[in-house]
Amino acid sequence: MEVVILADAKEIGGVAADAILALLDGKPDAVLGLATGSSPLAIYDELAARYDAGLVSFRKARAFTLDEYVGLPADHPQRYRHVIDNVFVSRVDFAADAVQGPDGLAADIPAACRAYESAIRGSGGVDLQILGIGADGHIAFNEPGSSLASRTRIKTLTRQTRIDNARFFGGDVDSVPTHCLTQGLATIMEARHVILVATGRSKAEAVHNLIEGPVSAMWPATILQHHPHVTVLLDDSAARRLQLVDYYRETYRGKPEWQGI
Ligand code: F6R
Repeated sequence: MEVVILADAKEIGGVAADAILALLDGKPDAVLGLATGSSPLAIYDELAARYDAGLVSFRKARAFTLDEYVGLPADHPQRYRHVIDNVFVSRVDFAADAVQGPDGLAADIPAACRAYESAIRGSGGVDLQILGIGADGHIAFNEPGSSLASRTRIKTLTRQTRIDNARFFGGDVDSVPTHCLTQGLATIMEARHVILVATGRSKAEAVHNLIEGPVSAMWPATILQHHPHVTVLLDDSAARRLQLVDYYRETYRGKPEWQGI
């Protein structure tokens, strides 16, 4: 796991965007994995800026989102499908239908989850997955206690996650759905490169466990310790509980410039 501690979200966005541009340069039809939430916004802003500057095209690329609330009406602005369209997809040149997400309105939820898994598999798999992390160590909506071998399925959101996400629902926790469809931990583990972004003090304990704790379903993100290519991009606040922080800084400083993340 590579740990990179940067000045702020803008710098994190730049480093992640460099990796995505390098991927698309070599593989214009690459498959991206997109997360919602606040953490990746600086990446999406940077990618949109580079698209505007003519430096990148997503015309041949495809993407899969991580998760979706169950039961939110099709036109609800907080459906992750709409959120990802607003913050990223509509700002660049993805082809129509190139971006898919789990169907939180499906009548047959297990069938929708199976269909999502086969769509990801059928695309050839995710080349680069962007992730945030919850304060409780969740990735996508794999809450503590999730099977480390889980696939796309329905999950109950914890009270804490609903409180954290109430900011997107006018501060009203009761408006936050109780369930979601989420890619499983085993689904995410199949992505070829994972870039996980965390900023702010509220993520420091989860980040410490992710990188330095024992692998445990109590901190679902720790499964990433078994992945061969994970890059964790942090600001100082999110890195403040890391025991080997000096070593991570020294390693990144000493990295040859030609070697991307
Ligand atoms: C969102 C998702 C979640 C978020 C996590 C952190 O698609 O899968 O795991 O990444 O809850 O959210 P933020 O970035 O808003 O702190």
